[in-house]
Amino acid sequence: MKISALNGFKDIVPGEVELWQHVENVARDIFARFHFSEIRMPILEKTDLFARSIGEATDIVEKEMYTFVDKQITMRPEATASLLRAYIQHGLHVKKPVQRLFTIGPMFRHERPQKGRLRQFHQMDVEVLGAANPRVDAELMGLGSMLMEELGISVSLEMNSLGCPVCRPGFRETLLNFINERLEHLCDDCKRRSSTNPLRVLDCKNPKCREQVEEAPSIQEHLCEDCDTHFAAVQKNLQQLGVQYSLNKFMVRGLDYYTRTTFEFITEDLGAQAAVGAGGRYDGLIEQLGGPKNIPGIGFALGMERLVLLLQQQEQEQAAASGVDIFIAGLGEKASEFAFPLVHTLRLNKIVAAMDHEGRSLKSQMKQANKAGAAWVLIVGENELEQGQVVLRNMETKEQEEITTSSLIDILLEKLQ
Ligand code: HAM
Repeated sequence: MKISALNGFKDIVPGEVELWQHVENVARDIFARFHFSEIRMPILEKTDLFARSIGEATDIVEKEMYTFVDKQITMRPEATASLLRAYIQHGLHVKKPVQRLFTIGPMFRHERPQKGRLRQFHQMDVEVLGAANPRVDAELMGLGSMLMEELGISVSLEMNSLGCPVCRPGFRETLLNFINERLEHLCDDCKRRSSTNPLRVLDCKNPKCREQVEEAPSIQEHLCEDCDTHFAAVQKNLQQLGVQYSLNKFMVRGLDYYTRTTFEFITEDLGAQAAVGAGGRYDGLIEQLGGPKNIPGIGFALGMERLVLLLQQQEQEQAAASGVDIFIAGLGEKASEFAFPLVHTLRLNKIVAAMDHEGRSLKSQMKQANKAGAAWVLIVGENELEQGQVVLRNMETKEQEEITTSSLIDILLEKLQ
């Protein structure tokens, strides 16, 4: 019996791996320019590390972790908690007051697999530990934007502030009052979340919930003075760097450790999996994990599968844009005999023409035409040919017309030149 990979786990085979190497090389080059050092952590960690950092009431900890229950260990669902564990364990703050670290590797979440969402996926993660200055927030968003630009990927940057332990509880109350007034109209998940983690109601994907929270209070208007000053400074610094961004009051992130700035790089080209990268500030987390007091931190992670998918989609679009003008799909030897000189004549007339020489089925020739980005396909069937007919298909509109072979060249030249 054939054994294949687990659902949501994927091989990266030659032909595809080159794109991964390209993404990683561009990233490593930029990380070096921003003076980051690499750190590598193990894949298995104590379960408690993630429960304490990501949060007990998050989807990740509640239902997505690969945990060996009898051993209390978990395959890391993200890099930040492990990286901070290593930072604390090795006393890296003593070696340098500000550590700029990056790591690249596989993460594991038991999510429902779909395009751009896997159970083993890869992150490129950067973290700056020991820097509270809002310039660092802007610097990191600038790094992400630079990386996207150098990869040739178009994304938009969205930002929010989640406040801090001083101002968030007040906002939570205000939001809870708003939610309670609409509770009956919310989905079951949101009803449950409203008591454990009401901010999550703001980013529920259910259209009914979205409609209900449209007018929800904005945390940006409930920040304490320090958070508000920080938020304004980050925006000023982003403008200084010329980094485009927009504010999104609904962004709350799926991990509990964030304070103040949060951000996401969003694409419209991957369906439901819109976030190509995301992160934010987590000023209390190092202490919460048993590390030294008052060491702020900020970082973000990019999803490599999503970057690679976007690059692949782009490649296909580019191939289609510079594809052949016409592909002659012939069925049978007589059709090939007819197509062979026809392709030559078209080429003499400066038309990019192609045909199949391997006697493939019509279906696979149509696929070949699609791959070659053909604008038109001429379908030459043996029987039709005997009656002096061929079919011309417009690949964009999918319209087909029958053409008599005697006037074929004139019609093709008229349509294609
Ligand atoms: P996250 O939003 O959970 O944040 O994940 C960051 C990125 O990893 C996402 O934007 C997405 O591109 C990718 N990703 C997440 N889950 C999957 C999946 N199942 N399949 C494919 N790609 C996925 C974090 O993990 C934080 N640790 C980010 C951070 C770093 N915050 C501060 N520092």
